[in-house]
Amino acid sequence: MSPSQINQKHFQLALKVAIQEAQKFQGATAPNPPVGACALDKNGKVLAVSAHQRAGEDHAEALLLKECQEKNIIDQIKTLAITLEPCNHTGKTPPCTDAILQAGIPRIIIGAMDPNPKAHGGAQALQDNGRQVITRVLEKECLFLIRAFRKKILTGTPWITLKQAFNKQGSMIPPKGMKTFTSPTSLILAHELRKRSDAILTGSGTILADSPLFTVRHVPDHPGKKRFLIVLDRRCQIPKSYTQEAQKNGFEVVEGLTLNGAFDFLKKTDALEVLVEAGPALSQSILDQNIWDEHVLIHQGKPDRVEVTFRK
Ligand SMILES: NC(=O)c1ccc[n+]([C@@H]2O[C@H](COP(=O)([O-])OP(=O)(O)OC[C@H]3O[C@@H](n4cnc5c(N)ncnc54)[C@H](OP(=O)(O)O)[C@@H]3O)[C@@H](O)[C@H]2O)c1
Repeated sequence: MSPSQINQKHFQLALKVAIQEAQKFQGATAPNPPVGACALDKNGKVLAVSAHQRAGEDHAEALLLKECQEKNIIDQIKTLAITLEPCNHTGKTPPCTDAILQAGIPRIIIGAMDPNPKAHGGAQALQDNGRQVITRVLEKECLFLIRAFRKKILTGTPWITLKQAFNKQGSMIPPKGMKTFTSPTSLILAHELRKRSDAILTGSGTILADSPLFTVRHVPDHPGKKRFLIVLDRRCQIPKSYTQEAQKNGFEVVEGLTLNGAFDFLKKTDALEVLVEAGPALSQSILDQNIWDEHVLIHQGKPDRVEVTFRK
């Protein structure tokens, strides 16, 4: 196959692989977005795939280039596909555009343009230096990957996922002596949502009823991950022992806020994603005030039925 025969199909496939890699680190990268990169050879074959793993560490494309350098295959890279426009500024790490230019890669495929005005301009810089740059390939999927980052950049507020489980009678309340009524598969989904989050928001009613741990257990968590646990408790009913236990489990516990106060607090943090795990009272407040982005409904059944809605 000649290089000219490498086409949109190869680019899309490379971005799909890059998205899959980036998704593994969703929840670990805040305040940065999850980003994936994939290198193709002259025939469109995948040489390497990488993702940004944690803020302060290498960006996806920089990591990928380092790995290719180590394997001595850097010269074989003829196309680099990246889910997000490479950064063009020095932050905690040097500009990725410089690394791409130094590597001599002739073609760069970009999924989503960077919504961050500070980092924007990478595509133009690469083009100005004679590279072929194709932008907005698989754009919808790449924008979906960075939905939380994009919202935070554009509005200052993190992405809010409201999760609610309903039993066959349409109630959220578990039977006496139990903390849940959903299937093991739904439990895995719930823990995947936790893993993605930087903060968990709950109400005093849930804590008084269940003393939930809110830790990620049914899937492996990101190593060393710290989350906020925000407890809305206007009547100060939560026992100190619960708070101390949550702190021991790695949470930064924040109490004594109103719902609006909680969002004002979150705006000042690096959090990109908030998971609301509350009972009917707080869940309904979130719905009434229309302050959710993603609504995950689990309906008990055989098997459970999961419904995911995104706010328009
Ligand atoms: N099925 C599920 O998905 C699910 C998930 C979690 C919990 N639950 C169940 O839900 C039950 C507890 O229900 P719940 O409704 O009492 O729990 P909740 O919604 O977690 O907590 C309600 C409490 O939060 C406080 N709060 C503060 N600001 C609020 C606001 N803006 N809107 C609403 N509440 C606010 C209130 O206490 P103050 O007035 O003291 O501030 C209120 O009593 C438990 O049985 C638990 O097992 C089910």
